[in-house]
Amino acid sequence: MKVSVKKGRIEKIPSEAIFLPHFADNDKLGYSAQLLDKATGGLLTEVIGTGDFKGELHQTYILLTRQAIPAKRILLVGCGRKSNFNLVKLRAVIVKAGQKVRDLGWKSLTIPLSPEIIEGVPLEDLAQVYVEGIYSGLYRFTQFRTTERKRVKELEQLTLVGEDGVNLKRVREGVNRGEIISDSLSLVRDLVSSPSNKITPTMLAETAQRIARENGLRCKVLGLAQIKKLGMGAFLAVAKGSQEPAKFITLEYRPKVKGAKTIALVGKGITFDSGGISLKPSKDMDKMKADMAGGAVVMGVIQAVSQLNLSLHVVAIIPATENLPSGSAYKPGDVISSFSGQTIEVTSTDAEGRLILADAIAYSLKYHPSAIIDVATLTGACIIALGDYVTGILGNDDDLMAQVKKASRVTGEMVWELPLLEEYFEYLKSDIADFKNAGGREAGTIQGAIFLSKFVKNRPWVHLDIAGTAWIDKDKPYHAKGATGIGVRLLVQVLRQLSE
Ligand code: BES
Ligand code: MN
Ligand code: ZN
Repeated sequence: MKVSVKKGRIEKIPSEAIFLPHFADNDKLGYSAQLLDKATGGLLTEVIGTGDFKGELHQTYILLTRQAIPAKRILLVGCGRKSNFNLVKLRAVIVKAGQKVRDLGWKSLTIPLSPEIIEGVPLEDLAQVYVEGIYSGLYRFTQFRTTERKRVKELEQLTLVGEDGVNLKRVREGVNRGEIISDSLSLVRDLVSSPSNKITPTMLAETAQRIARENGLRCKVLGLAQIKKLGMGAFLAVAKGSQEPAKFITLEYRPKVKGAKTIALVGKGITFDSGGISLKPSKDMDKMKADMAGGAVVMGVIQAVSQLNLSLHVVAIIPATENLPSGSAYKPGDVISSFSGQTIEVTSTDAEGRLILADAIAYSLKYHPSAIIDVATLTGACIIALGDYVTGILGNDDDLMAQVKKASRVTGEMVWELPLLEEYFEYLKSDIADFKNAGGREAGTIQGAIFLSKFVKNRPWVHLDIAGTAWIDKDKPYHAKGATGIGVRLLVQVLRQLSE
């Protein structure tokens, strides 16, 4: 798809459709709507007068313009009440438009850049939101369909139209950012949707190498022998049960400027989580192909960060393996020695994510990061606590935590902090090792984070539990069902903030 930015009159531009947002409580038409109304002989006034289209949030209505203007159609999308409207709702409205375009197979779409849609948002941010929203709405996962793929018609041309006086250069910057982030988002959604026989640790590593090649990053992939030699006993324990060779993947982005801060991103890369000997119930076990979502997210983020040329030194670390039961699998009761030197009693082989992350986080310390951010589908308890809309965050540093919350307000990827109190370590006390990996059902998400906190050596650190948000079972206005890519936009924004 090609995205262009133009200055001009919206009613003069040819396309298959013009996207036009409309508020439920606006008696007066907005600026672009007025222009279109006039050019079409009052078409909009007439339709709104019938009451068929009220502008309720996410309501859509297609008007044929019958050659009154060069654009064939006007796609009205309802925005609800103006007083309730915000950037998060705008995103959903645009995703909706993107889905409509996709379903109807339109080849071109024009969007008026109306600064009045939300006051106080810079036009380049608005442009970014439009581009991300349309891409997200267009997205579908067809890699493994032999029939649908041929049928899919793609949007070829998206045109953003600004009024006179608009700063096109800044709008183009927003578009560029939107395209970069959308690319990375689609990559992540593809990876997470792919089943575990297609995305094995080896293939995840190959994807990392491709990203490195295409973006000038350094990529290092450690195999079993090296993992053993380094003494990553926790990662190794999880990997033991699988026939698929485990991979410890590192991607590194170095900016051109000297003296940039180092940020470590660590993502859980369990390509399939059966629970191991502590086997999961078979219902919904297929969803555990998505247990590498954290790893995919950090790969997507470092790709975007490098394309955005941020002034940060970023290291993305993805420990990748399956978690399976077998004759060689680790067992409940086993005591393992982690890379950090601390010993762990395995009370559940299904609490495998924290084990592989423990070694990856400890390994990240060798880069002396000024912040560590880990992303993981870590606990079912997080789904119970926060559902599928809000990501759980925990950490040891108020400033870093505040950055994540601030980024969340910008991107609309919701987060909620849970308390990381040392008192909760009580659950993880072990009779025979330094601590255990799981201590029962209470405060499950906090237990996971407390466990990880034992490996960060007091570095500023935030943990994102995306177990509930990485995958959704039903279509939502802001997202189609399936892999969401949650974490990508949030962390790119965090890193943009940290690079300033
Ligand atoms: N990958 C799961 C968490 C999960 C569950 C993610 C459902 C997405 C949907 C994780 O490895 C796991 O199994 N966690 C256990 C921890 C427990 C044994 C302490 C859990 O949540 O039950
Ligand atoms: Mn598990
Ligand atoms: Zn898991």
